[in-house]
Amino acid sequence: MSDLDDRLVVVAVVDGKIVAAAKTHHQSAPEGGAPEGYYLGGLAVHPSHRREGIGLALTRARVEWVWARADAVHYFTDEDNVASLQMHAAFGFEEIARLSTILGAQANREHLVLFRATRPENQRGVVAHHVRPRGPADAEQSRS
Ligand SMILES: CC(C)(COP(=O)(O)OP(=O)(O)OC[C@H]1O[C@@H](n2cnc3c(N)ncnc32)[C@H](O)[C@@H]1OP(=O)(O)O)[C@@H](O)C(=O)NCCC(=O)NCCS
Repeated sequence: MSDLDDRLVVVAVVDGKIVAAAKTHHQSAPEGGAPEGYYLGGLAVHPSHRREGIGLALTRARVEWVWARADAVHYFTDEDNVASLQMHAAFGFEEIARLSTILGAQANREHLVLFRATRPENQRGVVAHHVRPRGPADAEQSRS
């Protein structure tokens, strides 16, 4: 894997301002119960732009980027983060573990939930592309 293939940062821009960001990285070795592989992370949408489809659009862009490189993608969140759990449900994630710490992140309460989704047959060969969420935001991609 080249350095250019192991991480991606995407942002959403509204009226010239970044209102959301998210990343993906490749974990090259298992660590404390977290398997090797691609992980979604760092997703945050500005409170004034939530429920506009931006989180979904940035996640779709990252998942499709991973599908061009691997058969599985992981993410984790606090067990009480309803917004995150509901938003990621659209991607077919299945719970694989509950841990107090994952890749350096600590649970707010007792556990973080670790999920994995596997690439659907019809997504083989898909390449990442620019996406447009429900609102006026533009999603942009760059490698960090
Ligand atoms: C989680 C987060 C990224 C969602 O981003 P968003 O842009 O508001 O989400 P979307 O508008 O794309 O929502 C898509 C779907 O997710 C679900 N969803 C999103 N926010 C939700 C909430 N607060 N409660 C319940 N379901 C929610 C809904 O099904 C929603 O579809 P709908 O609006 O048609 O009902 C955002 O709330 C956030 O930045 N939270 C703080 C940081 C965080 O928790 N990040 C995730 C760490 S893994």
